[in-house]
Amino acid sequence: EGIHRRKLEMVRGIPLFWSIVEEWAQVESFQARPDDLLISTYPKSGTTWISEIVDMIYKNGDAEKCKQDAIYVRIPFMELIIPGFSNGVAQLAELPSPRLIKTHLPVQLLPDSFWENNCKIIYVARNAKDVAVSYYHFYQMAKIHPEPGTWDEFLEKFVTGEVAFGPWYDHVKGWWEKRKDKPILYLFYEDMKEDPKREIQKVLQFLGKDLKEDVVNKILHHTSFQEMQKNPTANYKMVSKAQMDHSVSPFMRKGIAGDWKNHFTVAQNEAFDSDYKKKMKGSTLEFRTEI
Ligand code: PPS
Repeated sequence: EGIHRRKLEMVRGIPLFWSIVEEWAQVESFQARPDDLLISTYPKSGTTWISEIVDMIYKNGDAEKCKQDAIYVRIPFMELIIPGFSNGVAQLAELPSPRLIKTHLPVQLLPDSFWENNCKIIYVARNAKDVAVSYYHFYQMAKIHPEPGTWDEFLEKFVTGEVAFGPWYDHVKGWWEKRKDKPILYLFYEDMKEDPKREIQKVLQFLGKDLKEDVVNKILHHTSFQEMQKNPTANYKMVSKAQMDHSVSPFMRKGIAGDWKNHFTVAQNEAFDSDYKKKMKGSTLEFRTEI
């Protein structure tokens, strides 16, 4: 059906939306600027949350300014190119500096100009099981994805990395390694849930910014799940129903840590854990599965 539910295509072994693959030359030659801030995540890991936080920081806690445009206008999704709908590369070329940029690309596919310009990057990681659950619901509501099938079928695809943007395991590990020699702040969704104020302070320090206590409190309030859920410029309800059907599953779905327990069967959980151990073996990267 038109642009919807088409099968994913590959770029250097990574499954991506067919239209991104078609326009890959544009993405690859993306021109980063030294004062760009890149927000990098595997899908469903807290992209929208950290984006709203950083935009509020850039706008000194002025929520009204943030509410002037939808989040995908303020923080364009770089590699998202859908003919007739969206072109992140073109959108960003028109945006004045300093720009905020969203990407889901695995580290090895990031355009070179980000490294050449030594751009600051904030990476947010979320535990694999909650990502799988959130991604399953998102596949159902966002029609650019292929059909997810049953939960069991989708989980199998998640584990084998046959989902948009490829395997979660390589994504989180790849960016984790890169932080050793690049200006990357590596955050965790579970830490943000536990103590958002502490994590906002980390972002401020990383950006070399200092904001007054009352401004930080405003940011905390504006970026809470409850506020973002009802904020039309943050909750993706301005996207057409043909692209995202919130009646299937809202973009702002639950916003919690540990929802995987309501979805994984005991057998699925055991199989997942033993595979997880193999894939994450030798990495110092550790996730907290309960907050
Ligand atoms: S996307 O499409 O990849 O950009 O999605 P992303 O924003 O990374 O992830 C969406 C999930 O993040 C939850 N979310 C939040 N949780 C806590 N607090 C806030 N403010 C917040 N905003 C978004 C959102 O509900 C999705 O998770 P699930 O588990 O599906 O609810």
